[in-house]
Amino acid sequence: MERTVLNIVVVGSINMDFVCYIRKLPQLGETVQSYKTETKSGGKGANQAVAAALSGGNVTLIGAVGNDFYSRDILFGIKKYQVNTDRVLWKDSDIGTSFVVVDETGQNNVFLSEGANGCLTVEDLQGLPELFDSSSVLLVQNEIPWACTRYALEAAKQRGVQTYYNPAPASEIEEVVFPLIDVMILNESEAEFITSIRLEDDLSNIRQAASQIIALGVKEVIITLGEKGSLYMNHQEEAVFTSAYPVQVVDTTAAGDTFIGSFIVARQQGMTIKDALQRASAASAIAVSRAGAQESIPNVEEIANFLERCST
Ligand code: RIB
Repeated sequence: MERTVLNIVVVGSINMDFVCYIRKLPQLGETVQSYKTETKSGGKGANQAVAAALSGGNVTLIGAVGNDFYSRDILFGIKKYQVNTDRVLWKDSDIGTSFVVVDETGQNNVFLSEGANGCLTVEDLQGLPELFDSSSVLLVQNEIPWACTRYALEAAKQRGVQTYYNPAPASEIEEVVFPLIDVMILNESEAEFITSIRLEDDLSNIRQAASQIIALGVKEVIITLGEKGSLYMNHQEEAVFTSAYPVQVVDTTAAGDTFIGSFIVARQQGMTIKDALQRASAASAIAVSRAGAQESIPNVEEIANFLERCST
């Protein structure tokens, strides 16, 4: 695959996902039998790095793994997707883990244990100055210590690197950080958390939430709406709505991660917002129709074939 886009650096989490497939999510205190349990490569940072690489991006992942036997396997797996993992740090800890429960409609609940992700420090990132100098895009999420996310955004901004932030899972964001963000991509519940606006099916609420995020200092925002599509807005309040592609949902894990990685590469390749959103929606539609996190993410040919099938 020809890699035409400039360097993307992802500073984020690397997890081992323990995935339990069940018919129906349990009530409080209830025990339910899983009909299948698997271990898979995950973590929002790693998933987004893989999605960008499979879409044709030149991607370097910065993060931390542990000294347990899973870590080597997981890193080896990420490398297979052509993500540069040379700067991943080895910590005296266990790998980050995530316990994912998927019900028969494909919806999930996730429980996180940060492990080595929580051992990443600002000093570690300061030890990699060339990182931002050779990059054109930084992508961060909320699964590493907040000080690292904030430092990465500040360092990237100082060097004129374009910054993408996926504030997931939702947690408090210091106000000073919003103006450091060029593009924020988040889902409905994360947008509700930031804006306190209850996002029901009404598109006007979603526009209002997007506009409130822009008012905080973010240049462009995309709110992903699951099967309803996604809404983009920029600081001139120009909005673009894109519908989702209807597919049979198997597992929604990493759907958002796939959208983000694919969108960034599409934009770096010079696509219009509308085309980049469509490409990202197609990528995430394919991901939800398959099980797992990284292994559900499509490559550029699969996305192109899907889009072609949808247009005929
Ligand atoms: O976004 C999906 C990811 O969130 C999973 O792979 C899991 O590791 C959690 O971090």
